Amino acid sequence: MDVTKAIIPAAGLGTRFLPLTKAMPKEMIPVLNKPAIQYIVEEGLASNIKHFLMITSSKKQAIADYFDASPCLDYLLKERNKLHLLGDLEKIIKKAHFTYIRQSSPLGLGHAIMMARHIIEKEYFGVFLPDDIITGKQAALAQLIRIARQEKGSVIAVQEVPPECVSSYGIIAIKKQITPNLFQVSHLVEKPNQKDAPSNLAVIGRYVLSHKIFNALDDISSYATDEIQLTDGITQMMKHNEKVFAFKVQGTRYDIGNPIGWLKAIIGMALHDPTYAPYIKSYLADIDSFDSLLYNKTKHINHLNK
Ligand code: UTP
Repeated sequence: MDVTKAIIPAAGLGTRFLPLTKAMPKEMIPVLNKPAIQYIVEEGLASNIKHFLMITSSKKQAIADYFDASPCLDYLLKERNKLHLLGDLEKIIKKAHFTYIRQSSPLGLGHAIMMARHIIEKEYFGVFLPDDIITGKQAALAQLIRIARQEKGSVIAVQEVPPECVSSYGIIAIKKQITPNLFQVSHLVEKPNQKDAPSNLAVIGRYVLSHKIFNALDDISSYATDEIQLTDGITQMMKHNEKVFAFKVQGTRYDIGNPIGWLKAIIGMALHDPTYAPYIKSYLADIDSFDSLLYNKTKHINHLNK
């Protein structure tokens, strides 16, 4: 099973990040020195994805500009001996192939996935929800692809969440536990009440799906009254004889789709990055009260060298 294409749905309204998202795609929000979307594409390349199908809307032009060649900027940076400041971006642009597809109205994640149907053939493909940045030894999508090959079925990434949080996620119902981290799924429930949740395993933003998902989404869209949910599509796909597995991916997941999660991601990732960790550690150690955040000329504040 070759998985070389991935869909990145990025056409949502991003209401939890208003007013910022009024004029700027939340996928371009900086996490350390890179926009969030770059972490997603890097994970894709590390998982052998060659073709990224970005689902966008009219407000998301900055994403396409970011992954485009920039001859004038390159020329000026070269002249000033500063081309290295673009980091790995040049390599990414050379390696990855991007297709941008407009979703004219935000009719749900399932609907966004359907927008790429004409490019996916009879193959398995990856899905990245760009709100989730997952760091770890092995790329999260690569872990799912390995399971998809082994089990010959679709795979969704899951994470254990506290019972009081199940109502924020799609939750899996387990048909069979295969290993401590791998489960066969019987169905999915979107944002259940705590008492109705079939497990505490929450769907997070990585999937490897069969092309059968498109017919399944067709089925449910004929009676959907509101948004078309991908979780409902996956449950329906099982009725089309597709086995679905859930895998507890190994790594740290940061949900950057809301301001608190984004702040946690920046602090967590900075503390694991040798460039930033010493500065952030000493800065955090120095914060003992709200007063210490106010300007105090006797306190020594470190800055990264330019
Ligand atoms: P969310 O449900 O998190 O919505 O979508 P959102 O618009 O990004 O953010 P909030 O909730 O309003 O703050 C999950 C993913 O699906 C994409 C989003 O861009 C996000 O990556 N999506 C959602 C679409 O591409 N189209 C849609 O119609 C809905």
